[in-house]
Amino acid sequence: MCGIFAYLGPRKNAAEFVIHGLTKLEYRGYDSWGVAYDEGIKLGIYRQIGKISDYDPVKTKFPESTMALGHSRWATHGGVTVANAHPHTNSDSTIAIVHNGIIENFDELKKELVDKGYVFKSQTDSEVIAHLINEYCKTMDFEKAAKEAMKRFEGRYAVLAMKAGERKIIAARRGSPLIVGIGNNEYFVASDIPAFLEYTRKVMYLDDNQLVVLNNGTHFFDITTGKPVEKRVVEINWKTESAEKGNFAHFMIKEIMEQKDTIYRAINQEDSEIEKIAEEIKKAYGTFLIGCGTAGKVCLAAEYIFAKVAKRHVNVVVGSEFPSHQDFLKEKSLVIAVSQSGETADTLEAIEVAKKKKSKVLSIVNVEGSTMDRESDYSLHIKAGPEKAVASTKATTSQIAILTLLAYACDGRLQEGKTLLIDTAGKINDMLNPRYEEHIHALAEKIQHHESMYVIGKAVNYAIALEAAIKLQEVSYIHAEGFAGGELKHGPIALISEGTPCIVLVSNGDTRTDILNNAREVKARGGFIIGVAPQNEEVFDYWIKVPDVGIASPIVNIIPIQLLAYHLAVLRQNNPDMPRNLAKSVTVK
Ligand code: G6P
Repeated sequence: MCGIFAYLGPRKNAAEFVIHGLTKLEYRGYDSWGVAYDEGIKLGIYRQIGKISDYDPVKTKFPESTMALGHSRWATHGGVTVANAHPHTNSDSTIAIVHNGIIENFDELKKELVDKGYVFKSQTDSEVIAHLINEYCKTMDFEKAAKEAMKRFEGRYAVLAMKAGERKIIAARRGSPLIVGIGNNEYFVASDIPAFLEYTRKVMYLDDNQLVVLNNGTHFFDITTGKPVEKRVVEINWKTESAEKGNFAHFMIKEIMEQKDTIYRAINQEDSEIEKIAEEIKKAYGTFLIGCGTAGKVCLAAEYIFAKVAKRHVNVVVGSEFPSHQDFLKEKSLVIAVSQSGETADTLEAIEVAKKKKSKVLSIVNVEGSTMDRESDYSLHIKAGPEKAVASTKATTSQIAILTLLAYACDGRLQEGKTLLIDTAGKINDMLNPRYEEHIHALAEKIQHHESMYVIGKAVNYAIALEAAIKLQEVSYIHAEGFAGGELKHGPIALISEGTPCIVLVSNGDTRTDILNNAREVKARGGFIIGVAPQNEEVFDYWIKVPDVGIASPIVNIIPIQLLAYHLAVLRQNNPDMPRNLAKSVTVK
């Protein structure tokens, strides 16, 4: 993960400019940060522990500079210390680099460099990059040295490098995202578009194994062969305000509220496109749904939806486990990767595995132009707009909506599916009103001091129970676990004591009786039953009403839990947008 950003152009406040851009990438990592700026004969380096948004431009001023690069870190190798924060430099601080990803062969490279007398100042894998470029600079110019060094790094990485007094930023990509922004006589390069969205909508995507030299233009090369590569400029149509908080206190609540619109946007797809993909699913010899974290839980929900709506079995595997399932893959298999960012390393690795087996790959992504989007045979965009809060909300429900639509299309009932989802979207609009939020806030006040809570559901609501638990864990830091209601009696019920909050996800239909019985079992052991259901039931101690939308119930059932998690986080004085230890885009394995 980590966010990286560099600037080269006429602006004289390059360091501050890069810091500002990095604040837009802070969702990628926020335990420490740093910036390097060109001072002519050497580079200025400034590094800090903590959030970049705490930087005070009045207290810390930087000298004039027109070229800088910076980094917002999520620690992988080495603890959270100033020494481990990026940028990393060579011994005399004339070369600086920032790095996102993991250099898998850093041990071997470090040994080689230490033998040559290099002294390492950090515990990171990244520092080898600066020293190796330095080593090559002894016999060649900086650009050539950087190109040679990039060839030697194994693993997934995105690297930015610069040298004092050389008007050049070198950016290289193997696995981790990098996008170039083209301004008016100025250049940006970042892990994600929001870093420079205020200044340009013209972008150029680096593909895997490519490197770009930014000076008075953009010069792209293949890392392995060194040959120049032709690239085109793409105009993106994101709105700046959609990446900003507006009047909301946090991105998380803004994004929860956006679900009034996002379901409509998700299902607003060309019928022919959905039908074409449904045909691929129907003719596949084994369909695998792959995702990580919340996206993995969406896949599990989709397994139930496909079973119920399309009478089809789809396999669900979390991204990191997928390589162990590769022996089941055939050329006729279809792998459906579900991802908000389109950059999650474990999901990308699953795609690589599928491609090696020549299976077809469909991505369902939010970020257009992301690696998954570009590397898949088919791609569907959920069109939720930028999701900035670490805890996924609007992307989750949009992913479920699109997968529901695909299940209907597989059963030849696309229009029926659309009608159901349009109706659901309208009901979400009615649901997300201030009174509803107050009701959930009151519940959060009641349970905020509990140490543990549980969520149960049956069938598709089992998947939502798992997702609900993730939401609660991520931002409230309360120990939360999700279970299939029927599994409680096989162990977890031992955890219930007087007053333990237990959320019960109910939808009308054939699972209602069983899950209410499970709720009664919890209540008999003293549990405090919070029912998320279309109607109040005698077993509930606290009822959160959700509309009755049939098979689309997972979409409406998760929304009150998102709200509950948010209000618990705020009451417990946690930052819901940047929970501890987490990052939005997990680009490391
Ligand atoms: C991280 C995020 C989660 C997300 C998961 C997968 O852990 O914090 O919110 O569900 O990555 O991300 P993706 O971008 O692939 O959906």
